[in-house]
Amino acid sequence: MDTENYTSSIAFDKRLYKQDIAGSIAHVKMLAKQKIISSKEANQIIKGLNTIKQEIESNSFDWQENLEDIHMNIENRLFEIVGKVAGKLHTGRSRNDQVSTDMRLFVKEQSINIVSSIKKLQISLVKLAENNIDIELPGYTHLQRAQPILFSHHMMAYFEMFSRDVERFLQTKSRADVCTLGSGALAGTTYNIDREFVAKELGFSKISLNSMDAVSDRDFIIDFCSSAATCMVHISRLSEEIIIWTSKEFDFLKLNKKHTTGSSMMPQKQNPDYAELSRGRSARTIGNLMSILTLLKGLPLTYNRDLQEDKEKLFDSLDTLSSTLNVIDEMVNGMKLNKKTIQKASEDPELLATDIADYLVKKGSPFREAYKIVVEIVKYSNKNDLTLKEFSLKDYQNFSKLFDQDIFKITANSSIQSRDVPGGTSTKQVSNSIKKAKIILEKNVE
Ligand code: ARG
Repeated sequence: MDTENYTSSIAFDKRLYKQDIAGSIAHVKMLAKQKIISSKEANQIIKGLNTIKQEIESNSFDWQENLEDIHMNIENRLFEIVGKVAGKLHTGRSRNDQVSTDMRLFVKEQSINIVSSIKKLQISLVKLAENNIDIELPGYTHLQRAQPILFSHHMMAYFEMFSRDVERFLQTKSRADVCTLGSGALAGTTYNIDREFVAKELGFSKISLNSMDAVSDRDFIIDFCSSAATCMVHISRLSEEIIIWTSKEFDFLKLNKKHTTGSSMMPQKQNPDYAELSRGRSARTIGNLMSILTLLKGLPLTYNRDLQEDKEKLFDSLDTLSSTLNVIDEMVNGMKLNKKTIQKASEDPELLATDIADYLVKKGSPFREAYKIVVEIVKYSNKNDLTLKEFSLKDYQNFSKLFDQDIFKITANSSIQSRDVPGGTSTKQVSNSIKKAKIILEKNVE
């Protein structure tokens, strides 16, 4: 084992090069404005930093593991390019406030990218709901058939979950939106710096108010990992439904072949691997959140090297979520509803049990009594292998004299349409929520 490289983070923090260079340029501009260094020196340094950026982007940068991290790699190369003046870049700055600022810039940018990907998926869900607005489906509780609902209502439930995710990532972004440069190693700096100027240059809306908190705070990474884990849990639930619905037992959906894989042994199989993996990968994001919380819980103020461990967790949660959002969006767009089986399932008369009880209530029976009557009716129908559809009025009236001819007007559709409260499953309510969703989706991300 090579012990020298134990402290090195360059293998993963090279991902922060853009933020690191932007932070350095803003810092140098400020140093010149405050006459801490000359404009000529600042320009030389900025030119050198831009050259380094080009080298990195054209893959010609020579990364050196023994230089530990992104900050040292860039500073070292700056010396090679511009000479001694490079030594002025780090005036009034520490790697502690530098790395925090880099990470905050990164989290801000990536939160917005994630919001765009979530919105893309939301657009697909709304489209799917709209194209199938009237398809009836059994609604489940305890994974037992409960009441008829609209398929579109089911899809719009996921729209709501993802709307909360959008909100969470926007909050994550705004909590990361604090410039910590100028905090020095922990106590501030002796130079006459202009922190507001640096913040503005970098697009931050605020500066941090306590240097000790600033260099040791990673709450914004907890926020990002937590938002990512929650969003992955939502995706995982959707994947789980897709997996169940594509099973022969349900047969509600068919996935595009692209999102299934055959078995190496059983020739008939079309496994929903993409859905399974997106369900499975939620575990990593939950793990990353646990890691980052555990990493922080015992740390005394201020900076401790442990904090270097924040990066791989953050990057992994980001990469997992962003690739999974793309996959699930493609999958949702490619799947086909098996309308025949869905219709057959939604015609299951037992789904109407609540409606029959409500019917009796409207005719004057107390709900608890009506409930008991319907329990008896369902028991009887099961015992005699008779579906409610086959019940005659006389059959019904054996259980209650309140039943009348209009009992036959209760259908899956009447059941659905009668749930016309805000947030309910009637076509009117679901169309309304689709309309509102479209307005929300048209709004600009920020
Ligand atoms: N690579 C370090 C990190 O990610 C940068 C800060 C190093 N600071 C220090 N005092 N050694 O946290």
